[in-house]
Amino acid sequence: MISTRLLNSVSTLAVVCTQWGDTGKGKFIDFFAEWADIIARGTGGANAGHTIKLGSKTYVFHLVPSGILRDGDGKVNVIGNGVAFDPGIFCEELAVLEREGVSFEHLKIAQNARLVLPQHILLDRLRESSADGRIGTTGRGIGPTYVDHYARVGLTVNDLLNIDSFVQKLRRNLAEKRRILKDVDPEMIRRIMHHEHLEFGAFWSAFEFLDADAIVDRYRQFGSFLHPFIWNTDQYLWDAIGKKRVLLEGAQGNLLSVDHGTYPYVTSSDCSVQGLARGVGIRDRDVDLALGIVKAFYMTRVGEGPFPTELGGETSARWCNNAEVNEAVEIERLPYVSVNDIIPFRQGVAIRRAGNEYGATTKRPRRVGWLDLPLLRYSKRHTGGDIILTKLDVLDQCDQIKICTAYRYDGLPYAIGERVFTNGDMLDTAVPNYEVLQHCTPQYETFSGWKESTTGAKSYSKLPANLRFLVRYVACAAGLNVVLLSVGPDRDQTIPV
Ligand code: GDP
Ligand code: IMO
Ligand code: MG
Repeated sequence: MISTRLLNSVSTLAVVCTQWGDTGKGKFIDFFAEWADIIARGTGGANAGHTIKLGSKTYVFHLVPSGILRDGDGKVNVIGNGVAFDPGIFCEELAVLEREGVSFEHLKIAQNARLVLPQHILLDRLRESSADGRIGTTGRGIGPTYVDHYARVGLTVNDLLNIDSFVQKLRRNLAEKRRILKDVDPEMIRRIMHHEHLEFGAFWSAFEFLDADAIVDRYRQFGSFLHPFIWNTDQYLWDAIGKKRVLLEGAQGNLLSVDHGTYPYVTSSDCSVQGLARGVGIRDRDVDLALGIVKAFYMTRVGEGPFPTELGGETSARWCNNAEVNEAVEIERLPYVSVNDIIPFRQGVAIRRAGNEYGATTKRPRRVGWLDLPLLRYSKRHTGGDIILTKLDVLDQCDQIKICTAYRYDGLPYAIGERVFTNGDMLDTAVPNYEVLQHCTPQYETFSGWKESTTGAKSYSKLPANLRFLVRYVACAAGLNVVLLSVGPDRDQTIPV
């Protein structure tokens, strides 16, 4: 089903998200895995949740690359050096694959991937438990793992293979962490250390907070189990580039990149195409084609941070970031909502429900808003102009669809480099700064919906005229080349343009 024209003369393909994640990377990595020989992840860790739907079966992968369902065909899946690797979550994922009868014989983990340890999960959760500076992380220890890496006190997957040096590095790392923990409420530490992601207290010590011996024991077990998977994947990929078909799997999204995203409301790795290439040990220019996935004609964000087009604004952000709210609570409290509701917050709830926008990793409700072209024009600088539009079917029943075409800045004068933003300024390309974005008022164009089901459409010409018009409009208004459309989660609900 993959157009040969699209991949003609492509040897290395990257598929990334241009927005705040959850755009359908899992579906499209699985889709392009048919073409690839090697599928490699290079950024993030178990904060990712990539969903693949195959008939009546749904798989969600956090660390294992989304090409794994093709392992049986001899395809090699690689977890690259840039990944924050949590061996516990990885082993759980392998157990699920084993139960499902999915082979993972060819899977490789970079020996130099960053190792997530219990102290990272503790520190992540501690920081998130204070209202001040909350990011709304996934609580998987991602930030503290990368902090240790850049502070040069981190451990790598390879340390699992050499237990003496593991113990030495772990003790040094823990000594530093205990100094930080000295000033923290011990009851709060105890509570977090008993979280399920920390094996319900298995690594907790009442006197030292973190029990080094317990960590060594568990990680020694991980080391012996994982040894056959651990590989010099930098060398492996370097040898493959230009000779084999390599598919790079993005995690998170360009707007969540620590280098290019809406800082500080981002993740802690550079999940742009450039960061992805680095995270598997190759050069940017080794990527022959990058495809950016764009959710359309709405978008989502999980956690805190600016979201100019959010339906229901602050009310929606507070609702979705309330730890008590999940899908069941939302259905109980807001049973009757419509995608045509005149109250934006309720319309957002209905679109969330229609699109099943509840976190694949955390089950949190994803905040929902209209497609934002200024942000898309910004992301295009990093990802390039070739895109895939997903989730088009979600708005099948909308009477009207709004698209944000520009912003009006409505804040006090604010300098960014050589430019000073002043009240009333119009922006057609977003700047990723929180201080500016939070004062940007979206300017919308409103379009008629198509009001018919698209989930069974098999070709572009069979799609409703209003939908095709919107695809062309977005492509023109943001200077993009739309290569594929997605009208449902299954592999075959994919339409070439
Ligand atoms: P990822 O993180 O980018 O891989 O995306 P997630 O898996 O977190 O979320 C995307 C969700 O949308 C998953 O449940 C997919 O099965 C689903 N999905 C992907 N493409 C489509 C589509 O075109 N239409 C619909 N309705 N669902 C889709
Ligand atoms: P996939 O790959 C959506 C968000 C979190 C939080 C911020 C920082 O499934 O698209 P972290 O735990 O990384 O320190 O959290 O980043 N975030 C994601 N949002 N999809 C993801 O991954 C995400 N990974 C992290 O919600 O706002
Ligand atoms: Mg996801």
